[in-house]
Amino acid sequence: MAKKSEEVDLSELKIPQHVAIIMDGNGRWAKKRMLPRNMGHRAGAKTMEDICEDAWDLGIKYLTLYAFSTENWKRSEEEVSGIMDLLRKYLVDCIERSAKNNMRVRIIGDRTALAPDIQEKIVNLEEASKGYTGLNLTIAINYGGRDELRRAVRGMVEEASRGELDADKVTEDFISSRLDTRELPDPDLLIRTSGEERLSNYLIWQLAYTEFYFTDCLWPDFDKKELIKAVRYFNGRDRRFGGV
Ligand code: IPE
Ligand code: IPE
Ligand code: MG
Repeated sequence: MAKKSEEVDLSELKIPQHVAIIMDGNGRWAKKRMLPRNMGHRAGAKTMEDICEDAWDLGIKYLTLYAFSTENWKRSEEEVSGIMDLLRKYLVDCIERSAKNNMRVRIIGDRTALAPDIQEKIVNLEEASKGYTGLNLTIAINYGGRDELRRAVRGMVEEASRGELDADKVTEDFISSRLDTRELPDPDLLIRTSGEERLSNYLIWQLAYTEFYFTDCLWPDFDKKELIKAVRYFNGRDRRFGGV
């Protein structure tokens, strides 16, 4: 029997190893339905769960999701506490899901500014999932690319002032090894939903040679079909890395 056209095409696709996503548009998704913004975040959290399985199905090994930026504290107290409650639930539920899907979960960002119980949930999840060998899921919480660099530089200056860091040691690889993402390869593909075409302080060091895909789709509506569209776009790009 002939294969469905989708299957044929998929088998010929080059799959990006690491996909980073700016999950944007939860608020507009809710607004369109006359719902409070936090209902959009709730729908977005569901999409976050599903997309991990879809990514792994396609053969993606690393998925890095932007959940809360260092700038998102500017939102109303009601919205921020709603998002923090969703994260609490997500971090707890994710322990079971990581076991089911053999998924290793890491959290990046400055966790010291998060509520103590959230910090504890992060440690529990990272600890529980550290032996799993399937998808490497990374969630950025209270993450900002500039803040990540600031923290890394600060650590280096402290070491240098104690006489423990020689200036010659500071190579690009060394800087990468001091970032929150030290265990991850650089992303091959960045996806941003909701029509915005900016980085909003996401992975500014790591995205130096990443391909960018922007879609009008709002994050709660993003699904496997949309992910395949992004991977197809990636397949049409010619990555030269400065060569010819
Ligand atoms: C992204 O959706 C989720 C977070 C930033 C936490 P938004 O809440 O930014 O949705 P829009 O951009 O207002 O539609
Ligand atoms: C970026 O989205 C942050 C996350 C998706 C977590 P924002 O909605 O906060 O970004 P801006 O404000 O449109 O730049
Ligand atoms: Mg937004």
